[in-house]
Amino acid sequence: IPVVLGLLVAAYLLGSIPTALWVGRRFFGLDIREHGSGNAGATNTFRVLGKKPGSVVMAIDVLKGWAATMMATVMLNQGAIRPDQLLYFQLACGALAVIGHIYPIFAQFRGGKGVATVLGMMLAIAPGTVGVCILVFLVMLLLFRYVSLASMTAGVAFALLQLLPPFRPDNNLLLGFGFVLAGLLIYTHRANIGRLRAGTESRVPLFGRK
Ligand code: G3P
Repeated sequence: IPVVLGLLVAAYLLGSIPTALWVGRRFFGLDIREHGSGNAGATNTFRVLGKKPGSVVMAIDVLKGWAATMMATVMLNQGAIRPDQLLYFQLACGALAVIGHIYPIFAQFRGGKGVATVLGMMLAIAPGTVGVCILVFLVMLLLFRYVSLASMTAGVAFALLQLLPPFRPDNNLLLGFGFVLAGLLIYTHRANIGRLRAGTESRVPLFGRK
């Protein structure tokens, strides 16, 4: 029990590391939440600070979700949980990291939208399904050039893909969780949805197209 509790708290704290905020403060002397979309995430870091810091934030935020989810494997190896409980604890650890990322204790509970951290979490649990979702994300981004729209579509695709035989998990919990995560991503993008509808959402300048 102490091992399990300690690692669950650690998963939340790991997710809580406000990468975008700290990179912006430390190397650029600014609060990323006062610039661009105001989001403390990888996309806004790309937008406001550039490719290098954006990639670093992206990588660390994905890693947070992946590492937190792997804490369930540590629990298993420590004999703190049974093999048949692994998925439950993977989902719990991953979800806590995602919640930490969105509501970080180290940044007045004002963090990011959870896309990169969900990606890392699901890479640890269902990498094949995630691979298809990354393709969906890229196609959507190339077509429309809105990261928010591409992120939400990829999240919904993850949930829907699991209904198809090749991606169908043998556990209904994972299936349900996919829909919860898709709903969470839509919720964290509610301001983006407003901007998309108003036609004011910022587009990614791809191939010189502004
Ligand atoms: O990373 C979150 C992305 O989907 C949207 O970010 O900054 O455009 O609101 P942003």
